Formats: sequence, C-alpha cells, structure tokens
Amino acid sequence: MTNIKKRLLTGIQASGELHIGNYFGALKPFLEIYKDYDSFLMVADYHALTSIRDPQAIRQNTINVVKDYLAVGVDPSKAVIFRQSDNQDHMEMGWIFDCMVTVPFLMQAHSYKDKIAKGAEPNAGLFTYPMLMAADIALYDTTVVPVGEDQRQHLEYTREAVGKFNRAYGEILQEPTEKIVKGVGVVPGTDGQKMSKSYKNTIPLFGTKEEIEKSVMSIVTDSTGDIPENVYAIHTLFRTKEDLDSIYEANKGRYGDLKKILIEDIEKFVGPMREKRNAITDDEVKQVLADGAVQAKSVSNSILAKVREAIGIAL
Ligand code: TRP
Repeated sequence: MTNIKKRLLTGIQASGELHIGNYFGALKPFLEIYKDYDSFLMVADYHALTSIRDPQAIRQNTINVVKDYLAVGVDPSKAVIFRQSDNQDHMEMGWIFDCMVTVPFLMQAHSYKDKIAKGAEPNAGLFTYPMLMAADIALYDTTVVPVGEDQRQHLEYTREAVGKFNRAYGEILQEPTEKIVKGVGVVPGTDGQKMSKSYKNTIPLFGTKEEIEKSVMSIVTDSTGDIPENVYAIHTLFRTKEDLDSIYEANKGRYGDLKKILIEDIEKFVGPMREKRNAITDDEVKQVLADGAVQAKSVSNSILAKVREAIGIAL
C-alpha cells in the first residue's frame, strides 16, 4: 500500500489582528487537519495588491500573519509556508488561466460584485483575482483546499479554468475540491452577534491581558435571569459544558465574578500563544518564507513546465 498524502493548499489574505473568532472558526480547524496532508500554506500578498496600496502595510501584514500561524502551532517542518510573490510561477499561470476564461464569466463572480458594490475600485487585478487563485491551486496538483464558505465560488472558478485547460490540452492539471472548514459554528462576539471586526465586538487573540479584560468586561449582559448568556456562550469555547454548569450554578447572578473567571480562562489559553508569538523574530519569519519558497518552486516548476510544453511556449 502506498502512503502518499494528498496535497492540500490554502491561501491566507492577511487582514490585521486576529481575534478568538478567527482562531476557533479558521485556525483551529486548519491545525486539526493539516498534518494529514502534504500541506502548503500560502500568504496571498499579490492578491492583497488588489486592495492595498500601502507598501508598509503589505510588508507588515505578511510578517504578522506568518507569526500568527507559527504562534498558534503550525509547524514549518510539517507544512510549506511561503509567499505567493516569491514564486513567479503564479503570475505566469495566472495569465495562462486569464486566457482560458471569458470576461462575462468573470463578471458573474460574487466576490467581485460584492467588493465593487462596497466601493472597491474595479481594477483589472480585482477582476482576474479568481484566476490568480486558480493558479495558486493548480500549480501544486492540489486536491484539497480548505476554505471558508465565502470561497466556495472561487473554487468553482478554479475547476472551470482547470477544466477548460484540460479540455484544450489534455489531462494535465488536477481539479481540486474545496473542503469547507466548519468551525465551531458561529463564534459569538461581546454583543452576542457573530464575532467580527466590522461589528467591533471582538476579543483579541494576541491581545494583552488588559485588552482581554477590557473586551470581556464589555460583554453585554441583560439584567434578567441568573446566567449571563453572552458570557456563557463565549465561555463554552474554553471549558466543557459540565464544568461550566457547575461554575454558573455556584455563581448565579454574579455577573462580575463570572466575567473574571472567563478572563482567567481566556488568559490561560492565549497567554502561552502570545508569549510564543512575541518571541518570534522578523528574521525567523523571513527564514521560514525563504525555505518555503524553495520547496514551493520545486513543485510548481515541474507542473508549469508541463503546461508550457502543452501550450506551445516551450520550443
Ligand atoms: N481568496 C482567498 C481568501 O480571500 C485567499 C486565497 C488566495 C486562497 N489564494 C488562495 C485560498 C488559494 C485558497 C487557495 O480567503
């Protein structure tokens, strides 16, 4: 029996400080599966250029997101961590895919329509975004792409581009399937709505103890009933239901005390990750990315060579 692991690739677009909703909704589910695959974790920095024109922000976001992943426990010897921009094959394959699909097809992409409806500039990079993403995936013979629900259509676009390529040139590229990452359902924020930066109801993952305290103290509680629902809902991420039921029974009506227990429980959980993150230097991140780039290229170069041969670019 062969024991070859399937290839997994996912791309991350850095978007500022992580909160515990990101951790339980996306990072933790990734941590649970990535070692079962031959995993590639790519920072989508050229995708970021579709919306960010601040060079310092692009640099800093890249460093930060790699630190986040290392701090929560991604082992760089078990996953190839690399930057999209370090591997020019992505640009070349992206162009090839641009030539496979039509403008009306790209015009139907929800993410493009949503972004311009929210006021984003409809630059050509934003428009062809899904074909660069298709390149990210196809260049590694990826079979599994763990993404959130919002990326489902992008995966359909990848399959369409790969399919069109293969129908024109033969079965050269691998069609991926998405693996929709199911976090622990919706992680509630401090106001009971879904935790999200845009609602300003987050608890920071790598915040200081004081910042955690401030967020927890701001959890909205109503004055009726013995159990502050929003506190309890967040607490379930950190303790078993049995534990919680006895704690909440013993502290009936004492909302302040319950919040203090929650602060301690969050701190116990995030404290070690925060320390780990603070100890990671920028140089270490750059080394991880440099090593990752070499490994990424060694895979993508051979796939791109087949593609170039097939389309008539290799003479
Ligand atoms: N579009 C993805 C997002 O916004 C990021 C991404 C870029 C990606 N390239 C990818 C995800 C390749 C999976 C595979 O989250």
